[in-house]
Amino acid sequence: MNRILTSLIVFAFLLPCKVVNSSEIKEAFHIIELRKTAMQSLWHRIKRLSPYVELKEKVEYNKDLATDDAKEVLTLIKKTRGLWADSSNLSSKGFTNATPAVWALPNYFEKLYGSAESSALDLQNAIINDDIEGTVAAMCNLGKSCGTCHANFRRLLTSQLTNEVSGWSGKYINNCN
Ligand code: HEC
Repeated sequence: MNRILTSLIVFAFLLPCKVVNSSEIKEAFHIIELRKTAMQSLWHRIKRLSPYVELKEKVEYNKDLATDDAKEVLTLIKKTRGLWADSSNLSSKGFTNATPAVWALPNYFEKLYGSAESSALDLQNAIINDDIEGTVAAMCNLGKSCGTCHANFRRLLTSQLTNEVSGWSGKYINNCN
């Protein structure tokens, strides 16, 4: 009788514990991988676009390519926006550099996504319309949104910081205010 009671009590305690579901973990890894890759592609496009925005002529790069890159930046921002499932909050285990603040402050996180998205749209339109000042302003705003989000929501090891600090920390062209 006692043993049955003990088993019941143990069972009752165990029941609410979330069973670590391996397919959920796999899915989380997949999401983390997808968003990191998409973020890297974002940076790749921005890096190509920056000299064009700064009017540093490059023979092999033109308005068509700049428009394509700006469109892809917008697409990638929209794509990454949906890649923050709760299950992918795994920075304590070292699987992601996204801090738990992403899930604790969803409104602020979303707000920065919103401003990144609208700056990317402005950038695309300004390039299409040959609006040089508008292109510069949009690129500066985009840099601020990406940079502010990383400063608040992405954790870096000191060793990574030295490699990355001059890169996509937020200032994508030189003549921003
Ligand atoms: C609203 C927040 C937010 C915005 C906007 C944002 N990022 Fe990120 N970015 C993150 C977070 C959080 C991570 C960490 C993701 C992870 O480790 O899972 C990240 C990671 C990255 C990485 C590193 C990926 C890797 O391999 O670890 C790069 C590069 C990057 N972002 C570039 C950009 C660029 C360029 C922009 C703007 C054009 C941008 N991001 C906009 C939040 C943002």
